[in-house]
Amino acid sequence: MLNFGRARNQARTARPVSLGGMDYVDPKRKGSFVGKVFLAAALTALCIIMIKQSPSLNSPSVFSLHEPGVTHVLVTGGAGYVGSHAALRLLKDSYRVTIVDNLSRGNLGAVRILQDLFPEHGRLQFIYADLGDKNAVNKIFSENKFDAVMHFAAVAYVGESTLDPLKYYHNITSNTLLVIESMAKYDVKTLIYSSTCATYGEPEKMPITEETSQVPINPYGKAKKMAEDIILDFSKNSDMAVMILRYFNVIGSDPEGRLGEAPRPELREHGRISGACFDAARGIIPGLKVRGTDYKTADGTCVRDYIDVTDLVDAHVKALEKAQPGKVGIYNVGTGKGSSVKEFVDACKKATGRTIKVEFLPRRPGDYAEVYSDPTKIRLELNWTAQHTNLEQSLRTAWRWQKSHRDGYGPSSAIF
Ligand SMILES: NC(=O)c1ccc[n+]([C@@H]2O[C@H](COP(=O)([O-])OP(=O)(O)OC[C@H]3O[C@@H](n4cnc5c(N)ncnc54)[C@H](O)[C@@H]3O)[C@@H](O)[C@H]2O)c1
Repeated sequence: MLNFGRARNQARTARPVSLGGMDYVDPKRKGSFVGKVFLAAALTALCIIMIKQSPSLNSPSVFSLHEPGVTHVLVTGGAGYVGSHAALRLLKDSYRVTIVDNLSRGNLGAVRILQDLFPEHGRLQFIYADLGDKNAVNKIFSENKFDAVMHFAAVAYVGESTLDPLKYYHNITSNTLLVIESMAKYDVKTLIYSSTCATYGEPEKMPITEETSQVPINPYGKAKKMAEDIILDFSKNSDMAVMILRYFNVIGSDPEGRLGEAPRPELREHGRISGACFDAARGIIPGLKVRGTDYKTADGTCVRDYIDVTDLVDAHVKALEKAQPGKVGIYNVGTGKGSSVKEFVDACKKATGRTIKVEFLPRRPGDYAEVYSDPTKIRLELNWTAQHTNLEQSLRTAWRWQKSHRDGYGPSSAIF
């Protein structure tokens, strides 16, 4: 486990040192033997003083203490797309944040941006660790005092889950179990869990409410449903405050252009529609393949509910604020409005100003015609409503970031 916590490893800037009247020692100048001995002794003394004053040796890290008035949130998967945006929002709202990520899919670049934005002592620490490593997870919880956990870390591609289901059950279900066990052991009071509309499968009736039966049809949805079940069973005999948020299709990025969505290139083939649109707009792929034009929808293409990441992280903060000990809240996080794939592609063309070649193909097995949420419950109970509901505007914001980050968080260059 590598700990890149600023609190402990802050870079020290070189400063002139004054030692008992000897302000500066030019190493080229020949000094007397006595002078050299004196200098060596003084430097040794200085080192001892500095080591003694080092926060990591002398006093415990602020991350390892509960501080009145400060809420310390563990953000798992905080180097990823949604997690990094959530960490940014939490930091802006004065929360103390610890990010744990194994960087299997996330970007250290996103964490660096957050550290540059919030360099103050005790605001943000990053811990590089795998949540499948029980000892590492236990160590993280034993060395830090968290008030809440936002558990985003997961592998999250439906297509990939059908090819490698065990990876999904391990990474999502089993890792969530380890996180809950540590939360219980170290008495962490609040859990906000990232779930998905994929847990509903193919409901016959739209819109999807929280009462809609959960019958997932792929390993991703099943693994998330199992994780939800573990959380629900555990919460029956616990006073932990739990919020389960079932997101619909997440799009967009930080309106101020600091963060964006940057999946690994090898995941593109499993990717999401917004990534494919931007790749087509940039000419990385020849065009878009729209599968299915004969669904029972207004224009024959599939309909989905697209939720802007800024609204999504707002739902997390509201869930955190309203979470109550011993209670479980389950909420759909969507706009309540479906948009067709054709509408999405049109919005993408307008947002990017690019010509995007579109190929219409037969249906893909397993795709369902329409999925959109009923967000009434979250509006009434958490006072949350999606604000960024203009598809073109959300895509325009995301495109701005994509344009200036051709290599994601790697060496960035404006390409147009
Ligand atoms: N993006 C969406 O459209 C969407 C929709 C519904 C639900 N979700 C859920 O939201 C959460 C975040 O999704 P995202 O889109 O930001 O994905 P992402 O891949 O961008 O981020 C996931 C992060 O988790 C990290 N991670 C994965 N396995 C880990 C492990 N074993 N230990 C430590 N870190 C690990 C990755 O490195 C990555 O940084 C996931 O739980 C996902 O299932 C996302």
